[in-house]
Amino acid sequence: MDVYIPREEGNYLYSLVRHLRPTRTVEIGMANGLSSVFIAQALRDNGVGRHTAIDPFQNSDWHGAGMALVAKAGLADVVDLVELPSHQALPDLERSGVRAEFVFIDGSHLFDYVLADFLCTDRLLTDGGLIAFDDSDWPAVTQVIRYAISNRHYEVAFPEVVIESSRYSPGLANRLLRRVARAVPKFGTRLRPDFLTPSYEQGIRGRCVVLRKLKADDRDSQSRFHNPF
Ligand SMILES: C[S@@+](CC[C@H](N)C(=O)[O-])C[C@H]1O[C@@H](n2cnc3c(N)ncnc32)[C@H](O)[C@@H]1O
Repeated sequence: MDVYIPREEGNYLYSLVRHLRPTRTVEIGMANGLSSVFIAQALRDNGVGRHTAIDPFQNSDWHGAGMALVAKAGLADVVDLVELPSHQALPDLERSGVRAEFVFIDGSHLFDYVLADFLCTDRLLTDGGLIAFDDSDWPAVTQVIRYAISNRHYEVAFPEVVIESSRYSPGLANRLLRRVARAVPKFGTRLRPDFLTPSYEQGIRGRCVVLRKLKADDRDSQSRFHNPF
């Protein structure tokens, strides 16, 4: 099956792991193992760190292609496979005391599953750790990223790095409406936040956005409201 990240994105993941020097990396969604190889090779070149790949379908649907590629690249000793859906695997990792500095999210792309991946990842991620989202230009993934930066202590890391940039040029009517909405908050708050502040203005550009965790969650669990996103 023809499923893999582009070379440019693989190089980006490799550089991030080289830069961060994590002791533990996690990836959700292994498929043919392309992203696993870029991440694991960076760990090998760092001389430190283990990688956990989570994919419930690695053997059933992918016939072990990801793990075979990892072995062919001579990286089998760096990579562990967990064959469970991420909403089960990540809490298991948390329960067993695993902490990760780098997580790549590329599993189920449905909004609620990506949101669950973000929540469970955050609970493993050290402060200063990075989460890379594949397909961050898909609406469901973009919305999760918008939620994270509007409601949690996260920022877009390296916004200047744009993988597969797509040009966005809003029409005149949109620009005028946005200008009026910003000048008249009573009107503006009636519009969708993603219209009022387009994702590209938040640094969400291209197909692989990376978030940096600034600090742990400190919201009141009984809070009634979240910031619009
Ligand atoms: C787009 S592919 C991953 C591509 C891979 N990261 C690469 O670059 O080669 C998505 C993967 O997510 C896996 N997947 C689907 N649902 C999942 C879930 N609930 N938890 C974890 N992985 C899931 C699929 O089996 C598939 O391998």
